[in-house]
Amino acid sequence: MKIAIAISGASGTHLGLKTYDAIPPSHEKYLIINKNADTVALKERGYALFAQEEIWAPPASGSFGLDVLMVIPCSMNTLAKIAVGIADNLTTRTASVMLKERKTLLLAPREMPLSAIALENMHKLATLGVIIAPPIAAYYSEPESIEAMEDFFIGKWLDIVGIENTLYKRWQ
Ligand SMILES: Cc1cc2nc3c(=O)[nH]c(=O)nc-3n(C[C@H](O)[C@H](O)[C@H](O)COP(=O)(O)O)c2cc1C
Repeated sequence: MKIAIAISGASGTHLGLKTYDAIPPSHEKYLIINKNADTVALKERGYALFAQEEIWAPPASGSFGLDVLMVIPCSMNTLAKIAVGIADNLTTRTASVMLKERKTLLLAPREMPLSAIALENMHKLATLGVIIAPPIAAYYSEPESIEAMEDFFIGKWLDIVGIENTLYKRWQ
């Protein structure tokens, strides 16, 4: 599969990087980062990287054939823009491509509490087939550390988009 992870300006940007790292190399994977990320350090670490301003990058076109876009974490700003069809950077443009091409779009919103506006936006997107999957802990997996709890989020996100993993303890 061709998979892109987009990292917006919500809290928990490392979750997007960890999800990228957890995707096996058998998949073609890309990272879209917001302007505050450390581009040089990420390039040096070998990430297939695009910046938000690179609106001409391949995922911005339906013809590129991206199968999955996961926005992890997804800010309320980016969520709102996607919900009304604004495509002003590489993440929002790629999200609009996923919607028009009927491809898999997963958003991991990170905000608490949620306003009625955010809930309305999420409801609208869910009815369009977008997967709204916030990082919410499940205690049945008995996480013993923050890392284990994060592995549960990432394992669930990968499950949803069809990538096998053993990142968390499943309910038996
Ligand atoms: C320290 C810090 C933490 C933030 N955490 C969140 C957050 O968890 N969720 C959120 O929706 N916005 C959060 N924001 C606000 C976003 O960064 C802001 O709305 C920004 O415009 C989002 O831009 P983007 O959607 O283009 O990434 C945070 C901002 C700062 C400075």
